[in-house]
Amino acid sequence: MLAAYYTEGGPSSVIEVSEIDAPIPSKGEVRIRIAVSGINPTDWKARSRPQSFAPGEFQIPNQDGAGVIDAVGPEVDERRIGERVWIFFAAWDSRWGTAAQWTVVPEWQAVALPSQSSDALGAALGIPAMTAHRCLTSDGPIDGRTVLVSAGAGAVGRAAIQLASWMGARVVSTASTDEKAQIALDAGADAVVRYQESDATDQLREAAPEGVDRVLEISLADNVLLDLSSLNEHAVIVVYADDARTTLELPVRRMLFGNVTVRFMVIYHTPRAALLAAATDLTAAINAGALSEPHFARFPLEQTAEAQDAVEAGTVGKVLIDVP
Ligand SMILES: NC(=O)c1ccc[n+]([C@@H]2O[C@H](COP(=O)([O-])OP(=O)(O)OC[C@H]3O[C@@H](n4cnc5c(N)ncnc54)[C@H](OP(=O)(O)O)[C@@H]3O)[C@@H](O)[C@H]2O)c1
Repeated sequence: MLAAYYTEGGPSSVIEVSEIDAPIPSKGEVRIRIAVSGINPTDWKARSRPQSFAPGEFQIPNQDGAGVIDAVGPEVDERRIGERVWIFFAAWDSRWGTAAQWTVVPEWQAVALPSQSSDALGAALGIPAMTAHRCLTSDGPIDGRTVLVSAGAGAVGRAAIQLASWMGARVVSTASTDEKAQIALDAGADAVVRYQESDATDQLREAAPEGVDRVLEISLADNVLLDLSSLNEHAVIVVYADDARTTLELPVRRMLFGNVTVRFMVIYHTPRAALLAAATDLTAAINAGALSEPHFARFPLEQTAEAQDAVEAGTVGKVLIDVP
Protein backbone atom coordinates (compact mmCIF):
# COMPACT_ATOMS: atom_id res chain seq x y z
CA MET A 1 0.00 0.00 0.00
CA LEU A 2 1.03 3.63 -0.39
CA ALA A 3 1.87 5.10 3.00
CA ALA A 4 3.52 8.11 4.58
CA TYR A 5 5.82 7.08 7.42
CA TYR A 6 8.91 8.03 9.37
CA THR A 7 11.65 5.98 10.98
CA GLU A 8 13.02 8.70 13.25
CA GLY A 9 11.58 11.78 14.94
CA GLY A 10 12.31 15.28 13.70
CA PRO A 11 11.15 17.93 11.22
CA SER A 12 8.58 17.04 8.57
CA SER A 13 11.40 16.10 6.18
CA VAL A 14 11.69 12.75 8.06
CA ILE A 15 8.40 11.73 6.40
CA GLU A 16 8.74 9.44 3.38
CA VAL A 17 5.96 8.26 1.10
CA SER A 18 6.32 4.86 -0.58
CA GLU A 19 4.88 1.35 -0.86
CA ILE A 20 4.86 -0.87 2.24
CA ASP A 21 2.88 -3.98 3.23
CA ALA A 22 -0.70 -3.33 4.28
CA PRO A 23 -1.63 -4.27 7.88
CA ILE A 24 -3.61 -7.38 8.76
CA PRO A 25 -6.25 -6.98 11.49
CA SER A 26 -5.57 -8.86 14.73
CA LYS A 27 -8.13 -10.13 17.23
CA GLY A 28 -10.72 -7.44 17.96
CA GLU A 29 -9.49 -5.15 15.18
CA VAL A 30 -10.96 -3.86 11.94
CA ARG A 31 -9.01 -2.83 8.85
CA ILE A 32 -10.06 0.36 7.11
CA ARG A 33 -9.43 1.44 3.53
CA ILE A 34 -8.73 5.09 4.25
CA ALA A 35 -10.35 7.77 2.07
CA VAL A 36 -9.36 10.87 4.06
CA SER A 37 -6.80 11.35 6.84
CA GLY A 38 -7.33 14.20 9.32
CA ILE A 39 -4.36 16.01 10.90
CA ASN A 40 -4.24 17.50 14.40
CA PRO A 41 -1.49 19.38 16.26
CA THR A 42 -0.81 16.16 18.20
CA ASP A 43 0.37 14.52 14.95
CA TRP A 44 3.20 16.91 14.17
CA LYS A 45 4.09 17.18 17.87
CA ALA A 46 4.41 13.38 18.11
CA ARG A 47 6.58 13.30 14.98
CA SER A 48 8.82 16.14 16.21
CA ARG A 49 9.89 14.36 19.40
CA PRO A 50 13.42 12.98 19.32
CA GLN A 51 12.95 9.24 18.85
CA SER A 52 14.62 6.45 16.99
CA PHE A 53 13.05 3.23 15.83
CA ALA A 54 14.52 -0.26 15.70
CA PRO A 55 15.58 -1.43 12.22
CA GLY A 56 12.49 -2.21 10.13
CA GLU A 57 10.16 -0.28 12.43
CA PHE A 58 8.27 2.83 11.37
CA GLN A 59 5.43 5.13 12.32
CA ILE A 60 2.59 6.11 9.99
CA PRO A 61 1.32 9.48 11.30
CA ASN A 62 -2.16 10.88 12.00
CA GLN A 63 -4.75 9.78 14.52
CA ASP A 64 -7.99 10.59 12.67
CA GLY A 65 -9.53 9.47 9.39
CA ALA A 66 -12.50 8.12 7.52
CA GLY A 67 -12.98 5.22 5.14
CA VAL A 68 -14.56 1.81 4.74
CA ILE A 69 -13.96 -1.38 6.76
CA ASP A 70 -12.67 -3.99 4.33
CA ALA A 71 -11.51 -6.76 6.70
CA VAL A 72 -12.03 -7.78 10.32
CA GLY A 73 -9.88 -9.74 12.74
CA PRO A 74 -10.97 -12.71 14.87
CA GLU A 75 -13.93 -12.04 17.21
CA VAL A 76 -15.23 -9.10 15.15
CA ASP A 77 -18.62 -9.37 13.45
CA GLU A 78 -18.00 -9.86 9.71
CA ARG A 79 -21.11 -7.81 8.98
CA ARG A 80 -18.97 -4.73 9.68
CA ILE A 81 -17.18 -5.28 6.37
CA GLY A 82 -18.35 -2.57 3.98
CA GLU A 83 -19.31 -0.12 6.78
CA ARG A 84 -18.30 3.53 6.29
CA VAL A 85 -16.59 4.72 9.46
CA TRP A 86 -14.71 7.57 11.08
CA ILE A 87 -11.83 6.57 13.31
CA PHE A 88 -9.80 8.10 16.12
CA PHE A 89 -6.56 7.25 18.00
CA ALA A 90 -5.24 5.22 15.03
CA ALA A 91 -1.62 6.11 15.84
CA TRP A 92 -1.98 5.90 19.64
CA ASP A 93 0.31 3.07 20.74
CA SER A 94 0.18 1.83 17.15
CA ARG A 95 2.38 2.27 14.08
CA TRP A 96 -0.67 2.29 11.78
CA GLY A 97 -1.74 5.94 11.54
CA THR A 98 -4.20 7.13 8.91
CA ALA A 99 -1.76 8.65 6.37
CA ALA A 100 -1.88 5.46 4.32
CA GLN A 101 -4.24 3.47 2.15
CA TRP A 102 -5.07 1.06 5.01
CA THR A 103 -4.99 1.14 8.79
CA VAL A 104 -6.10 -1.16 11.60
CA VAL A 105 -7.75 -0.09 14.87
CA PRO A 106 -9.60 -1.85 17.70
CA GLU A 107 -13.16 -2.09 16.43
CA TRP A 108 -14.59 0.33 19.05
CA GLN A 109 -12.39 3.08 17.54
CA ALA A 110 -14.22 2.74 14.20
CA VAL A 111 -17.56 4.52 14.43
CA ALA A 112 -20.31 4.22 11.81
CA LEU A 113 -20.47 7.37 9.69
CA PRO A 114 -24.02 8.53 8.95
CA SER A 115 -24.76 8.15 5.23
CA GLN A 116 -25.30 11.89 4.69
CA SER A 117 -21.82 12.73 6.04
CA SER A 118 -18.85 13.22 3.78
CA ASP A 119 -15.60 11.38 4.39
CA ALA A 120 -14.07 14.80 5.00
CA LEU A 121 -16.44 15.54 7.88
CA GLY A 122 -15.75 12.07 9.25
CA ALA A 123 -11.99 12.64 9.15
CA ALA A 124 -12.42 16.02 10.89
CA LEU A 125 -14.30 14.57 13.90
CA GLY A 126 -11.89 12.35 15.85
CA ILE A 127 -9.64 14.12 18.32
CA PRO A 128 -11.18 17.63 18.11
CA ALA A 129 -14.82 16.62 18.42
CA MET A 130 -14.14 14.01 21.12
CA THR A 131 -12.08 16.56 23.05
CA ALA A 132 -14.78 19.19 22.76
CA HIS A 133 -17.41 16.68 23.89
CA ARG A 134 -15.40 15.55 26.90
CA CYS A 135 -14.68 19.13 27.98
CA LEU A 136 -18.36 20.04 27.71
CA THR A 137 -19.79 17.00 29.48
CA SER A 138 -17.32 16.08 32.22
CA ASP A 139 -19.03 18.33 34.80
CA GLY A 140 -22.71 17.70 34.22
CA PRO A 141 -25.34 18.98 31.79
CA ILE A 142 -24.85 22.36 30.13
CA ASP A 143 -28.43 22.87 28.97
CA GLY A 144 -29.39 26.43 29.87
CA ARG A 145 -25.86 27.28 30.99
CA THR A 146 -23.46 29.79 29.47
CA VAL A 147 -20.25 28.34 28.08
CA LEU A 148 -17.17 30.34 27.13
CA VAL A 149 -15.24 28.59 24.36
CA SER A 150 -11.79 30.02 23.77
CA ALA A 151 -10.25 29.66 20.29
CA GLY A 152 -13.60 29.44 18.50
CA ALA A 153 -12.01 29.17 15.04
CA GLY A 154 -9.82 26.25 16.07
CA ALA A 155 -10.75 22.65 15.37
CA VAL A 156 -11.57 21.90 19.03
CA GLY A 157 -13.17 25.30 19.62
CA ARG A 158 -15.42 25.20 16.57
CA ALA A 159 -16.59 21.67 17.42
CA ALA A 160 -17.24 22.83 20.99
CA ILE A 161 -19.37 25.76 19.79
CA GLN A 162 -21.49 23.46 17.63
CA LEU A 163 -21.86 20.77 20.29
CA ALA A 164 -22.58 23.22 23.13
CA SER A 165 -25.25 24.99 21.06
CA TRP A 166 -26.79 21.62 20.18
CA MET A 167 -26.78 20.70 23.89
CA GLY A 168 -28.77 23.82 24.69
CA ALA A 169 -26.09 26.12 26.06
CA ARG A 170 -25.58 29.78 25.33
CA VAL A 171 -22.10 30.08 23.79
CA VAL A 172 -19.66 32.94 23.88
CA SER A 173 -16.38 32.38 22.06
CA THR A 174 -13.08 34.17 21.52
CA ALA A 175 -11.01 34.98 18.44
CA SER A 176 -8.13 37.22 17.42
CA THR A 177 -9.31 38.38 13.97
CA ASP A 178 -12.51 39.26 12.10
CA GLU A 179 -12.12 36.16 9.95
CA LYS A 180 -11.86 33.88 12.99
CA ALA A 181 -14.69 35.69 14.78
CA GLN A 182 -16.91 35.05 11.76
CA ILE A 183 -16.02 31.34 11.80
CA ALA A 184 -17.11 31.17 15.44
CA LEU A 185 -20.36 33.03 14.71
CA ASP A 186 -21.08 30.83 11.68
CA ALA A 187 -20.55 27.78 13.90
CA GLY A 188 -23.31 29.06 16.18
CA ALA A 189 -21.63 31.22 18.82
CA ASP A 190 -24.05 33.78 20.28
CA ALA A 191 -21.24 36.31 20.65
CA VAL A 192 -17.50 36.56 20.12
CA VAL A 193 -14.97 38.39 22.29
CA ARG A 194 -11.78 39.72 20.71
CA TYR A 195 -9.66 38.39 23.53
CA GLN A 196 -6.47 40.22 22.59
CA GLU A 197 -8.08 43.68 22.77
CA SER A 198 -7.62 45.81 25.86
CA ASP A 199 -11.37 45.92 26.61
CA ALA A 200 -11.82 42.13 26.35
CA THR A 201 -13.26 41.86 29.87
CA ASP A 202 -15.85 44.54 29.06
CA GLN A 203 -16.69 42.70 25.83
CA LEU A 204 -17.18 39.48 27.79
CA ARG A 205 -19.39 41.11 30.46
CA GLU A 206 -21.52 42.57 27.67
CA ALA A 207 -21.66 39.25 25.82
CA ALA A 208 -22.52 37.24 28.94
CA PRO A 209 -24.28 39.53 31.44
CA GLU A 210 -25.70 36.41 33.13
CA GLY A 211 -22.15 35.18 33.84
CA VAL A 212 -20.23 32.16 32.58
CA ASP A 213 -20.69 28.65 34.02
CA ARG A 214 -18.15 26.67 32.01
CA VAL A 215 -14.99 27.59 30.17
CA LEU A 216 -13.13 25.51 27.58
CA GLU A 217 -9.67 26.97 27.82
CA ILE A 218 -6.83 26.65 25.32
CA SER A 219 -4.40 28.83 27.29
CA LEU A 220 -4.92 29.27 31.01
CA ALA A 221 -1.78 31.42 31.18
CA ASP A 222 -3.10 33.94 28.66
CA ASN A 223 -6.77 33.95 29.55
CA VAL A 224 -7.32 33.15 33.22
CA LEU A 225 -8.01 36.78 34.16
CA LEU A 226 -10.44 37.17 31.27
CA ASP A 227 -12.17 33.94 32.29
CA LEU A 228 -12.43 34.96 35.95
CA SER A 229 -13.87 38.37 35.04
CA SER A 230 -17.27 36.85 34.23
CA LEU A 231 -17.34 33.51 36.06
CA ASN A 232 -20.36 32.57 38.12
CA GLU A 233 -19.74 30.85 41.46
CA HIS A 234 -18.98 27.12 41.16
CA ALA A 235 -17.97 27.53 37.52
CA VAL A 236 -15.57 25.05 35.93
CA ILE A 237 -12.64 25.90 33.68
CA VAL A 238 -11.53 22.90 31.58
CA VAL A 239 -8.01 23.36 30.23
CA TYR A 240 -7.32 21.29 27.14
CA ALA A 241 -4.04 22.62 25.78
CA ASP A 242 -0.49 23.15 26.93
CA ASP A 243 1.09 26.27 25.52
CA ALA A 244 4.61 25.23 26.53
CA ARG A 245 4.72 27.51 29.57
CA THR A 246 5.40 25.22 32.52
CA THR A 247 4.42 27.51 35.39
CA LEU A 248 1.61 29.93 35.97
CA GLU A 249 0.59 32.40 38.67
CA LEU A 250 -3.05 32.21 39.71
CA PRO A 251 -5.13 34.72 41.70
CA VAL A 252 -5.84 32.15 44.40
CA ARG A 253 -8.06 34.26 46.68
CA ARG A 254 -10.29 35.28 43.79
CA MET A 255 -10.63 31.70 42.67
CA LEU A 256 -11.15 30.47 46.25
CA PHE A 257 -14.03 32.86 46.91
CA GLY A 258 -15.52 32.03 43.51
CA ASN A 259 -15.49 28.32 44.31
CA VAL A 260 -13.84 27.87 40.93
CA THR A 261 -12.85 24.43 39.70
CA VAL A 262 -9.97 24.14 37.24
CA ARG A 263 -9.58 20.79 35.60
CA PHE A 264 -7.15 19.61 32.96
CA MET A 265 -7.98 17.02 30.37
CA VAL A 266 -6.15 15.06 27.74
CA ILE A 267 -8.26 12.98 25.41
CA TYR A 268 -5.85 10.04 25.29
CA HIS A 269 -6.42 9.32 28.99
CA THR A 270 -10.19 9.61 28.85
CA PRO A 271 -12.09 6.50 30.03
CA ARG A 272 -13.34 4.31 27.21
CA ALA A 273 -16.95 4.66 28.40
CA ALA A 274 -16.72 8.43 27.99
CA LEU A 275 -15.24 8.07 24.49
CA LEU A 276 -18.03 5.70 23.49
CA ALA A 277 -20.61 8.11 24.91
CA ALA A 278 -18.96 10.89 22.90
CA ALA A 279 -19.16 8.79 19.72
CA THR A 280 -22.86 8.17 20.33
CA ASP A 281 -23.54 11.86 20.93
CA LEU A 282 -21.50 12.93 17.90
CA THR A 283 -23.54 10.58 15.70
CA ALA A 284 -26.73 12.09 17.11
CA ALA A 285 -25.37 15.60 16.51
CA ILE A 286 -24.53 14.74 12.90
CA ASN A 287 -27.99 13.28 12.37
CA ALA A 288 -29.50 16.45 13.85
CA GLY A 289 -27.46 18.55 11.40
CA ALA A 290 -25.61 20.17 14.31
CA LEU A 291 -22.09 19.35 13.11
CA SER A 292 -21.20 20.93 9.79
CA GLU A 293 -18.02 20.76 7.75
CA PRO A 294 -15.34 23.30 8.65
CA HIS A 295 -13.27 24.98 5.95
CA PHE A 296 -10.81 22.38 4.63
CA ALA A 297 -7.24 22.65 3.35
CA ARG A 298 -6.64 19.45 1.39
CA PHE A 299 -3.36 17.80 0.40
CA PRO A 300 -2.53 14.60 -1.52
CA LEU A 301 -0.91 11.75 0.41
CA GLU A 302 2.42 12.48 -1.27
CA GLN A 303 2.39 15.89 0.48
CA THR A 304 1.85 14.58 4.01
CA ALA A 305 4.91 16.53 5.20
CA GLU A 306 3.55 19.80 3.77
CA ALA A 307 0.15 19.04 5.28
CA GLN A 308 1.64 18.56 8.76
CA ASP A 309 3.63 21.78 8.29
CA ALA A 310 0.37 23.56 7.46
CA VAL A 311 -1.12 22.45 10.77
CA GLU A 312 2.01 23.51 12.64
CA ALA A 313 1.83 26.92 10.92
CA GLY A 314 -1.70 27.45 12.25
CA THR A 315 -3.68 27.07 9.03
CA VAL A 316 -7.22 28.26 9.65
CA GLY A 317 -9.63 25.37 9.16
CA LYS A 318 -9.04 21.64 9.10
CA VAL A 319 -6.11 20.15 7.22
CA LEU A 320 -6.94 16.87 5.47
CA ILE A 321 -5.08 14.39 3.30
CA ASP A 322 -6.89 12.76 0.38
CA VAL A 323 -5.73 9.16 0.17
CA PRO A 324 -5.70 7.65 -3.33
N1 LIG B 1 -6.13 17.95 25.66
C1 LIG B 1 -6.33 17.26 24.55
O1 LIG B 1 -6.63 16.06 24.58
C2 LIG B 1 -6.26 17.98 23.23
C3 LIG B 1 -7.02 17.53 22.15
C4 LIG B 1 -6.98 18.25 20.95
C5 LIG B 1 -6.14 19.35 20.84
N2 LIG B 1 -5.37 19.70 21.90
C6 LIG B 1 -4.49 20.89 21.80
O2 LIG B 1 -5.36 22.00 21.67
C7 LIG B 1 -4.73 23.00 20.89
C8 LIG B 1 -5.68 23.44 19.78
O3 LIG B 1 -5.91 22.35 18.92
P1 LIG B 1 -6.78 22.58 17.59
O4 LIG B 1 -6.77 21.33 16.82
O5 LIG B 1 -8.08 23.23 17.95
O6 LIG B 1 -5.86 23.66 16.87
P2 LIG B 1 -6.19 24.71 15.70
O7 LIG B 1 -7.29 24.23 14.84
O8 LIG B 1 -4.88 25.03 15.08
O9 LIG B 1 -6.72 26.00 16.45
C9 LIG B 1 -5.96 26.74 17.31
C10 LIG B 1 -6.76 28.01 17.63
O10 LIG B 1 -6.29 28.49 18.88
C11 LIG B 1 -6.44 29.89 18.91
N3 LIG B 1 -5.50 30.35 19.92
C12 LIG B 1 -4.15 30.19 19.93
N4 LIG B 1 -3.62 30.70 21.06
C13 LIG B 1 -4.67 31.21 21.78
C14 LIG B 1 -4.76 31.85 23.05
N5 LIG B 1 -3.67 32.09 23.79
N6 LIG B 1 -5.98 32.21 23.49
C15 LIG B 1 -7.09 31.96 22.74
N7 LIG B 1 -7.06 31.35 21.53
C16 LIG B 1 -5.85 30.97 21.06
C17 LIG B 1 -6.13 30.33 17.48
O11 LIG B 1 -6.93 31.42 17.08
P3 LIG B 1 -6.67 32.95 17.49
O12 LIG B 1 -5.88 33.56 16.38
O13 LIG B 1 -8.03 33.49 17.63
O14 LIG B 1 -5.88 32.94 18.77
C18 LIG B 1 -6.58 29.12 16.63
O15 LIG B 1 -7.83 29.35 16.01
C19 LIG B 1 -3.41 22.40 20.42
O16 LIG B 1 -2.39 22.83 21.29
C20 LIG B 1 -3.63 20.92 20.57
O17 LIG B 1 -2.41 20.21 20.74
C21 LIG B 1 -5.41 19.06 23.08
